[in-house]
Amino acid sequence: MAFSHRNLLGLEGLHRDELTFLLDTAASFKEISERDIKKVPTLRGKTIVSLFYEASTRTRVSFEIAAKRMSADFVTLTATASSATKGETLLDTARNLDAMRPDVIVLRHPCSGAAHFLARRVECSIINAGDGAHEHPTQALLDALTIREHKGQIEGLNVAIVGDILHSRVARSNLFSLRELGARVRLIGPPTLLPREFAQWADLTSDLEEGVRDADVIMMLRIQLERQGKNYFPTTDEYSRYFCLTERAVRLARSDVIILHPGPMNRGVEISSTVADGPYSVIMNQVTNGIAVRMAALYLLASRVREEGGTIPASAEIPNEAEPRLRRRVG
Ligand code: CP
Repeated sequence: MAFSHRNLLGLEGLHRDELTFLLDTAASFKEISERDIKKVPTLRGKTIVSLFYEASTRTRVSFEIAAKRMSADFVTLTATASSATKGETLLDTARNLDAMRPDVIVLRHPCSGAAHFLARRVECSIINAGDGAHEHPTQALLDALTIREHKGQIEGLNVAIVGDILHSRVARSNLFSLRELGARVRLIGPPTLLPREFAQWADLTSDLEEGVRDADVIMMLRIQLERQGKNYFPTTDEYSRYFCLTERAVRLARSDVIILHPGPMNRGVEISSTVADGPYSVIMNQVTNGIAVRMAALYLLASRVREEGGTIPASAEIPNEAEPRLRRRVG
């Protein structure tokens, strides 16, 4: 199975084979970033626009680096520097950008569903770079790639996701992908931030020590204060007393546990510095893998492999080591 979608809007509903194909494609691209000259002509002549209505460090920069490593033209637009400040709507902005014939728009927006909304109304492909509390598919893919690299496989792993589950698009995308790839997922957080409907897919607990016990993977999440319209817990100090990941809690997990965090971290709130910078942390590996995952997403959408009926066009120049693997898997 290949990845035959026009857009990458979320991981909900993606089949295990599609997720594996995305991860394998990303893994194939990793070596480009290890080269002395980190550039291949794979997307020469393609245009990528990033349209960000929310702040970002990792996602925005890594999409730009990914596009440039594949020789695409990359244009970035942030809402604060766009005509959105003069009242232009998201749809009008996107239609105007679409009229300039980009191949892909990478969208981050505070409203859940914004990427789906645009995908139905523009010609180019849309990649969701985070929509409200809904999904953040490339983040969950880089998380899965990082877990797979360290653990060999995802099937059968105990994954504990801790924090503000209710408002976390990272938790939702990971829940969909990790379950589909065969992991057992536990969600841990204050009762007010643990949606009961997630009990159909994961074990829920508000006891951090119970939740991380025997975990192979612990993924810590930031408290999304910007999405909280009311008080879900008394104070940040009280939250950290019960839910901050410290060395003591890590000792309850498997001895080869790995610790993930999508960033940005609030040190001392959800994760202690000794854990964030300690031997079990793979947080910087996640950031590195973000480039490969975004290269794969851009490649699969912008190069239009999906439109060629499952064959990579002869003209497509792809990295030497990636080519045989991609040719095998596409179709
Ligand atoms: N993980 C993540 O989305 O980080 P940024 O908000 O910095 O892009």
